[in-house]
Amino acid sequence: MSATSFDDATITILGLGHIGLPTALGLAELGRHVIGADADAGKVELIRDGKPAFYEPGLDDLLSKHLQSGRFRPAVDVEEAVRAGSIIFICVGTPQKPSGEADLAQVEAVARVVARNLNGYKLIVEKSTVPAITAQWLKRTIVRYCPGSPSLGAGGAMTDPISPDFDVASNPEFLREGKALEDFFHPDRIVCGVESDRAREILTGLYRPLGCPLVMTDTSTSELIKHAANAFLSTKISFINMVSDLCEKVGADVTAVARGIGLDARIGRQFLDAGIGYGGYCFPKDLRAFIYLAGENGVDFSLLQEVERINQRRVEVFVRKVRQAIWNLAGKTLGVLGLAFKAGTDDIREAVSLKIIQALLDEGSILRLYDPQAMPNTQQVFPASTERITYCPSAYEAARGAQALLVLTEWEEFCQLDLAKVRDLMEVPIMVDGRNLFNPATVRQAGFEYFSMGRDGAGSSGLAARSGTTAA
Ligand code: UDX
Repeated sequence: MSATSFDDATITILGLGHIGLPTALGLAELGRHVIGADADAGKVELIRDGKPAFYEPGLDDLLSKHLQSGRFRPAVDVEEAVRAGSIIFICVGTPQKPSGEADLAQVEAVARVVARNLNGYKLIVEKSTVPAITAQWLKRTIVRYCPGSPSLGAGGAMTDPISPDFDVASNPEFLREGKALEDFFHPDRIVCGVESDRAREILTGLYRPLGCPLVMTDTSTSELIKHAANAFLSTKISFINMVSDLCEKVGADVTAVARGIGLDARIGRQFLDAGIGYGGYCFPKDLRAFIYLAGENGVDFSLLQEVERINQRRVEVFVRKVRQAIWNLAGKTLGVLGLAFKAGTDDIREAVSLKIIQALLDEGSILRLYDPQAMPNTQQVFPASTERITYCPSAYEAARGAQALLVLTEWEEFCQLDLAKVRDLMEVPIMVDGRNLFNPATVRQAGFEYFSMGRDGAGSSGLAARSGTTAA
């Protein structure tokens, strides 16, 4: 079967989470026939009804479009889905073990399902974030568990010509939550790790319609590119957060520093937004998995250990800033704008905002919380309680009677707030902006005491605060 005949081959996506579902619908939008399978029957039921199990801009529209077009078929029967597909994308979760190591149990479980259902040539593509050499384990596992498959030779080499006919490839995704579809259709690059010309041709054909640079390499290199990318972006954030702390000491403006260094194309302005640090499902765990992988191979990646330590200290840095702004925290009513780990998502996994909320509760504060999307998820962690936690229907209600307003997530809608109305609703108009979302001068002119990250001592000129925003 030549590679071109794969141009209309059925694609199977295993795992319909933040990676799998946008990928499935993106490929359907490119004209491919896609089966999406997930062991979680409840999630598949929701998806069949046109409801993604999480908030992602534009995803529900694309889901209903391709349920209608018939190009996307959700399935619970993973075995049947594997048999029906020729290109199998593995998009299952790779959570973290206490050691920081990536937990690949779900990936292995999928490999065994594939092994039992190899009804003809299949290209198995890793899209989950996995440590280097995972593709080798995938291949070995599929051969071992494939009925009637011969035993492997030394080093896992497939010795017998009648070995099962499949390839394993790596194709890490770089989708950002909140921008998943935009990133799928407009990627900076596509990275593929392959071990055969057939796999190379199939993936080249698959992504040709996106018209972006294609980095074609071996599987271990491709796997490492993903970890290295996330580790480097985390490093940029921790770097600018250290600069931010220094700016406060010397009276400089971190947003101007970020602009000044970011205009150097060798540095780039993106991911130099100082604040309360990075969170989410990816950066924290991928960094730890990368550190663990390095350690296992005798490489002391101390740089990344420091990146993580800097990030963990952001909670303390921010709570200290609130204390410096309002003195005692106990018994104070604080309005909190933003719970999600970043704007554009309802995801609260490893959200720094939640760690700050826990610290403020430990200090005895009373919290009025608001987030456009993440309150249902947050209520799983911090149930509404009469005396200390109130979930509010709007940002204005969160400000009502507050002695300070804390900005923890960079939702654009907060920039549209009528600051005078917010001020009048508050008991004391103090704002502590953990995301440098607002322009200091604008907020102060509206009658607030305003505190932010890495700018408080500065005579900041009100230039654009964040990369690409005009909130100034
Ligand atoms: C990240 C990677 O960007 C993406 O390529 C990969 O596929 C998955 O992991 P995501 O987790 O969705 O995506 O979030 P991202 O937009 O990268 O932000 C990560 C965290 O860093 C968020 O908490 C965000 O608030 C924070 N951040 C980001 C900063 O603190 N400063 C910045 O300048 C940028």
